[in-house]
Amino acid sequence: MLRDRIRYPRLLEKLATADEAAALIEDGMTIGMSGFTRAGEAKAVPMALAARARKHPLKITLMTGASLGNDLDKTLVEAHVLARRMPFQSDPTLRKAINAGEVMFIDQHLSETVELLRTRQLGPVDIAIVEAVAITENGGIVPTTSVGNSASFAILADKVIIELNLSQPITLEGLHDIYIPSKRPSRMPIPIVTPESRVGLPYIPIPPEKIAAIVVSEKLDSSSTILPPDDDTRAIASHLTDLLLHEVKHGRMGYDLQPLQAGIGTIANSVLHGFLDSPFHDLKMYSEVLQDSTFELIDAGKMTFASASSITLSAEMYQRVLPRLAEYKHHLLLRPQEISNHPEVIRRLGLISINTALEFDIYGNVNSTHVGGTHMMNGIGGSGDFARNAYLSVFVTKSIAKDGAISSVVPMVSHVDHTEHDVDILITEQGLADLRGLAPRERAALIIRNCVHPSYRDQLADYFRDALKRGGHTPHVLEEALSWHQAFRNGKTMLKA
Ligand code: COA
Repeated sequence: MLRDRIRYPRLLEKLATADEAAALIEDGMTIGMSGFTRAGEAKAVPMALAARARKHPLKITLMTGASLGNDLDKTLVEAHVLARRMPFQSDPTLRKAINAGEVMFIDQHLSETVELLRTRQLGPVDIAIVEAVAITENGGIVPTTSVGNSASFAILADKVIIELNLSQPITLEGLHDIYIPSKRPSRMPIPIVTPESRVGLPYIPIPPEKIAAIVVSEKLDSSSTILPPDDDTRAIASHLTDLLLHEVKHGRMGYDLQPLQAGIGTIANSVLHGFLDSPFHDLKMYSEVLQDSTFELIDAGKMTFASASSITLSAEMYQRVLPRLAEYKHHLLLRPQEISNHPEVIRRLGLISINTALEFDIYGNVNSTHVGGTHMMNGIGGSGDFARNAYLSVFVTKSIAKDGAISSVVPMVSHVDHTEHDVDILITEQGLADLRGLAPRERAALIIRNCVHPSYRDQLADYFRDALKRGGHTPHVLEEALSWHQAFRNGKTMLKA
């Protein structure tokens, strides 16, 4: 079985234990590791590293594609291994360490990390650790359920450790399309013209001599933690369907729409799930993560093709999809995150981009990352890559959080990830605001009328009325603009008595 998976025979000599591979990592090193939205991360070596660090302390900079599963970030934080972490995370223990200032977190647009490494504005990467399903006859690495930043990490690193995961189905081979952009400033255009465009290799090409160790592992990916649709997310999905029907009616797109991108998390997944009951058909995705909803749409015959950088599913959906992967293969493609999220391709394909906000303000600025303006939630992820470059940039959120103590629509966001210039449509379960072509004063009136929860509507209308008295292109009562966040911090609710 190992010979089927390690098809470059000389590399069989590199088989090692996780402890032996982890011993290659030294204090102060920068490690580039596979893993994107809990899919395809290296599992055995980082665990062995944490065990070693508990006895002999060491610190590293850890770069990945995005978030990791299998409680890896938690384990590494608890073993005090992480000095710096980038470009995304979603682990509660790491989140706490970041907000306590114990781990330095660099929150990056997911398309950018490897550009910075390639031009040595970041790095260098000492060791890449990549989960693989096979090594090809010429020593190429075949990734597993995600590509993320693995290709460039492996190409740029001094040494590469492979985790050969025997539990990942070999049918994953052939699903990947590894394309590395050429050098700037005379870079050739990326030749992707449809989500299906295959433009690279089905493996990561590296000189096999760089492979320092191969560790066999069998641990599965963690399943996703998304919740099923509820009344609010169904209402959000229905508003989105109405909007897209309006676009079709006005001849701006057909019932096959434009390629779709949907962000991580419960809300975005539920919204995509809503397309099941829509009149749209022959849909395509050009996104960064494929969640349960993608496979539901493919199974229902609603979606014909989905391109992304990872596959992250619920436990039930893993059972359904992995054994039948060969059947799905002609509907799917996994790319490096630099390509799945590339501004050039996003703009060329004209995506409908649907991402989730923590909060947005009356002028359309969106906060996706910072609770109360100060505390990191997960990170910007790919939302900025997509929002700025999309054909239609949609942000969704429930109008209230924490049982109504928080309004997700506020006078001024406490942190800005997506400026008013990058946001076309805002949707809550209350309704939709189409901001295209509107001036700030017009946007505010529409957002307050359509998106705000009834318990906060008067309060926000009062704020806007007072702001208008002060004048300006984007009127504000500056001394009150963040008072709602202050009120929540002091009295546990944004609601005025
Ligand atoms: N203030 C404080 N907390 C808020 C809030 C607000 N305005 N709005 C929501 N929350 C809390 C919720 O109460 C919930 O808390 P809990 O985990 O304690 O229950 C949490 O935020 C998540 O909210 P939820 O409604 O379950 O949404 P989600 O799972 O869809 O996640 C984001 C929403 C914004 C956190 C998530 O989409 C994200 O990290 N986005 C940034 C990255 C991104 O967009 N990537 C997209 C490209 S793939």
